[in-house]
Amino acid sequence: MTTFVLFGGTGDLAKRKIIPALYSAFLNGRLDPNFHFYGAAREALTDDEFRTRVSDSISQYSKKDAVGTPEQLTAFLALTFYLKMDAGVDSDFELLKKSIPDPDQQPTLFYLATGPDIFIPVVRQLSKHQLVGKEARVVLEKPLGRDAQSARDINQALRTCLKENQIYRIDHYLGKEMVQNLLALRFANLFLEPLWNRTWIHDVQISIAEQVGVEARGNFYDHTGAMRDMVQNHLLQLLSIVAMEAPINSAPDSIRDEKVKVLHALHKFTPEEVSKKTVRGQYRAGAVDGQPVIGYQNEPGVPAQSRTETFVAIRAEIDNWRWAGVPFYLRTGKRMASRTAEITINFKPIPYSIFGASNRNVRSNRLVISLQPDESVELFLKAKEPGEGIHLSDVMLNLDFAEASTSRRVEAYERLLLDAMRGDLTLFVRDDELGAAWDWVDPIMSAWQTDAEGLKSYIAGSWGPAASSYLLAQNGSSWGEEFVEN
Ligand code: BG6
Repeated sequence: MTTFVLFGGTGDLAKRKIIPALYSAFLNGRLDPNFHFYGAAREALTDDEFRTRVSDSISQYSKKDAVGTPEQLTAFLALTFYLKMDAGVDSDFELLKKSIPDPDQQPTLFYLATGPDIFIPVVRQLSKHQLVGKEARVVLEKPLGRDAQSARDINQALRTCLKENQIYRIDHYLGKEMVQNLLALRFANLFLEPLWNRTWIHDVQISIAEQVGVEARGNFYDHTGAMRDMVQNHLLQLLSIVAMEAPINSAPDSIRDEKVKVLHALHKFTPEEVSKKTVRGQYRAGAVDGQPVIGYQNEPGVPAQSRTETFVAIRAEIDNWRWAGVPFYLRTGKRMASRTAEITINFKPIPYSIFGASNRNVRSNRLVISLQPDESVELFLKAKEPGEGIHLSDVMLNLDFAEASTSRRVEAYERLLLDAMRGDLTLFVRDDELGAAWDWVDPIMSAWQTDAEGLKSYIAGSWGPAASSYLLAQNGSSWGEEFVEN
């Protein structure tokens, strides 16, 4: 019998991602038939009231092909229960202990979909009430901490109660199909490896653009900002997979050993470098897809004078033999022109063009790995246009994963929940990776605190502040959407 206890069970993340993921796993027969799901939160709710919320979240947020039949929903709800719990109340944990099977004997997953400030109290309570037995695992949502020190404090407290192999630090980008495919692309194919270095690559761009604003999470977001919400975790995880050396095998620690080396090799910025190599912005009112939207400071839960960044662009550098001198441009933003997540590898220009002046400025080869909205790998090559004379243009070798495979797509959260239930740590973040990521991010955030003028504004529905384009232009590059073929 497997038990799944979701702290923060009434929260936004539970509603949008975790409950639909759990239900999809249920529909696909991936859960133990004796599975029990407990939502836990401070609100006083009956089992039936919680079931109504679970059902609403499934109808609102599940993919169309993961809604199931009314009978399947009823069966899932029959396995669903609710516990009113407060991290500071001992008797709540006593009740939890009485309600679930012994975690020393039966697989038990405690998922902390809460703010990082209550990770330590909850884990201490679980430990105090002997709920972290041999079969227990604890999943922790990001951001884990607010900075390097608080992340260290959390990790240290976790280690006093749990073994490292019981701790699942989630970064849902690692559960995305294309992120795993990136490992296959790099380490199951020969032709890229000789080109994958400073000799042939001009720059790398990793960009996650969102059209949504902060939605109902204004208060949380205002204390977090884009750096903690996206860069410290999702963007640095993508960077480490793009830049890592080949691991000795695919065991979780072999992969994580290589990723952490990249994070350690990231060049740490001085305050002067922060002002030259980073851009941060906040959206003001504008229009997304033709619909007017309000500015960040008018979002519910956000103070009118907020200085929190909703956009970040950084020129990162990796100080090692493979990558020295190659800029890794990282970018993320809310309320951007379109929703895309992609990694672009820009190769260096050819040394000399034999095709004359009119063809001299064509863009060099690039490889674009799209994570969303579509999953694809596109290699842009040069070819001659049909007709007289030689006019070069881009042609694309396109591997479209939706066309290439009809297998069921498993959403990131579902994949990661199932991995955690199976005890597979490969796609979770180890404490040293997390520490190294915070160590790189910390000096940037500190420098920003003393540079209030550095926060630029951008119009909702644009591609962010103009300074972000300048960051690349200094090195003869431009973001993917800015390139116009001549
Ligand atoms: C989450 C962030 O980790 O990732 C959100 O907290 C963001 O702010 C989300 O919207 C983006 O995830 P995805 O999978 O929609 O790109």
